[in-house]
Amino acid sequence: MIELRNLTKKFGQNTAVDSLSLVVRPGAVTGFLGPNGAGKSTTMKMILGLVRPTSGQVLVDGVPYSRLKDPIRKLGALVDPEAVNPNFTARQHLALMATAGGIGMERVAHLLKQTGLETAQHRRIGEFSLGMRQRLGIAAALLGDPETVILDEPFNGLDVDGIKWLRALTKGLAEQGKAVFVSSHLMSEVEAIADRVVVLAQGRLIADMTIDQLMKANLSTHVRVRSEDDRKLAAAVTKAGGAVRQSSNGTILVNSMEMEEIGKMAKELGLAIFELTSARASLEDLFVELTAGSVEFQGQTALNGRGDAIC
Ligand SMILES: Nc1ncnc2c1ncn2[C@@H]1O[C@H](COP(=O)(O)OP(=O)(O)OP(=O)(O)O)[C@@H](O)[C@H]1O
Ligand SMILES: [Mg+2]
Repeated sequence: MIELRNLTKKFGQNTAVDSLSLVVRPGAVTGFLGPNGAGKSTTMKMILGLVRPTSGQVLVDGVPYSRLKDPIRKLGALVDPEAVNPNFTARQHLALMATAGGIGMERVAHLLKQTGLETAQHRRIGEFSLGMRQRLGIAAALLGDPETVILDEPFNGLDVDGIKWLRALTKGLAEQGKAVFVSSHLMSEVEAIADRVVVLAQGRLIADMTIDQLMKANLSTHVRVRSEDDRKLAAAVTKAGGAVRQSSNGTILVNSMEMEEIGKMAKELGLAIFELTSARASLEDLFVELTAGSVEFQGQTALNGRGDAIC
């Protein structure tokens, strides 16, 4: 279990993490979401004692990481898959860590198999693809069969099979009772595995909710509409109970209303429809929803010319 209490990190004038308080509970996967630069990695490094907080506290099982007894069995982490000696083989890398942590070689063999690296175990890490390095980093994180697992962007570089494998793995870890903390800048990656999501923007917590609450909030899907007269259609949709907002590429986005209903409404109004698609909300759309009214955040979400999220 991880507890953050008013955790803040400043790099000079830049506040990377701003008074962040949250709990990563056992028996669940907590998704840690936020766009590039939101402060996810900095937070994870503070949990691991790799970055010193400017203020606030981080506790792992009730104590700071540096005071953990037998840390390899308490907390395992993947934070930087490149932080490995490229001249070592995968097996040598894991064996060294295992020896330092008093862990038997059968655990190394088990993890090489579990992460799909069995056949590549005698190859130099320097020859590994990004996905293979991620798998090795995950194996290293799990070496001590830790109670808490932190994975920073573990989906990066994984192929389709790798993504499926990692989803099953993280869910399995939570089912075993472990506290699993997984960061991503993609909603879709985390949504499939997380019991809860924590959303960070510019170092601040903007949402901490269960996936059920997120779905009930109806933020994850919307209908994108472009018609002959969007203003007229938006007024009718709003009157009928739909939630309408404008996207930056001139279409309107509707929540809480089915596509068919909107189509029929346009027909009744005699309006030609140019586009009517059901779309999953991007993380940026979610931010816009969650931060509605927050002047500081508005206008700073990263949108490309089409109004779609970059990440
Ligand atoms: N060592 C450092 N020195 C100075 N600034 C830093 C340092 N590490 C991170 N930052 C800054 O802190 C902020 C948060 O960065 P961080 O890497 O935590 O974001 P992130 O959410 O992990 O982003 P990404 O999705 O790109 O990995 C950024 O503005 C970044 O430039
Ligand atoms: Mg990061």
